[in-house]
Amino acid sequence: MSKEIVLSGIRPTGFLHLGNYFGALRNYVKMQDDYNCFFFVANWHSLTTHPDTKALEHSVNRVIAENIACGLDTNKAALYVQSDVPEIAELYLYLNMLAYKGELEKTASFKDKVRMQPENINAGLLTYPVLMSADILIHRALYVPVGKDQEQHLEMARNFAERFNHRYGEVFPLPKAFNYNSDLVKIMGLDGNGKMSKSENQLATIFLADDDESIRKKIMKAKTDAGPTEPNALKPDYIQNLFTLMQLVSTEEVYNQFNANYNNCNIRYGDFKKQLAEDMANFIQPIREKAADIQQDMVYLNKVIKEGAEKARESASKTLLLVREVINMNY
Ligand code: TRP
Repeated sequence: MSKEIVLSGIRPTGFLHLGNYFGALRNYVKMQDDYNCFFFVANWHSLTTHPDTKALEHSVNRVIAENIACGLDTNKAALYVQSDVPEIAELYLYLNMLAYKGELEKTASFKDKVRMQPENINAGLLTYPVLMSADILIHRALYVPVGKDQEQHLEMARNFAERFNHRYGEVFPLPKAFNYNSDLVKIMGLDGNGKMSKSENQLATIFLADDDESIRKKIMKAKTDAGPTEPNALKPDYIQNLFTLMQLVSTEEVYNQFNANYNNCNIRYGDFKKQLAEDMANFIQPIREKAADIQQDMVYLNKVIKEGAEKARESASKTLLLVREVINMNY
């Protein structure tokens, strides 16, 4: 039996961080054995905000390297760059004819961007969800591991797929969000303000490329308070976040010890953070070093990117053939 198809994309703006790792990459690595996986770097999507494209090239390479450093095996999953797969652009064109201006204007991410960059409200921004739908539908993917913030886009992908199937003929399964239940960990910023983020407070975010010193500094600066005043107190969310991190990177023994200290009201946050900083540094170090090695090796990196593109195009061109058939455009 052939495996079900999984697809996800990462925008190459900014550095990957712990939130990306525990919210996405770790899941990708698990899925690569059980599913037919396609993971890609969404560099066309990045153009909607007019970035420096020289820096973008660098980021694309880094994201590919970081995915591999986190355990993605390019012999199992297809890892590719969006702009290497022109079939996506053709499907995007067809889907654009089925997407209505009104629904695109109502999209939450579009409205956010209009607020954030009023000087650059381009059509690419408006049709961002259409391009994302093309990314997914081009492989006829069934499962899309993404966070909550992408659910509206996914719903739009289902709508476009349904409209296409209805108008032209059944080509696409309806894609759904997918995550291993147990793995929906949300990592907050170390300042206790919202999610860990690529762009907001850099000091509150631990990046996979951070060196030991910056990791230590950031953790030692993390928000704490005077400590619990009664046994077994509920942890405030910024403290809970540090415990969540400890649970992810430290041994069970260490975690249990500090948790017991908290519950007995004799936790010393200085010691707690010192321990967390050491364990975090040890956790990030091999990922950072492997990613750096890969980025040094352009021959390897180019080979991986080329092979990824080949795998993706093989699958994409099969879908496009069906698409053209049902649209009656196979002249
Ligand atoms: N929009 C996604 C994000 O900002 C990135 C993305 C682009 C994506 N195309 C996709 C995610 C297709 C999943 C499937 O995170």
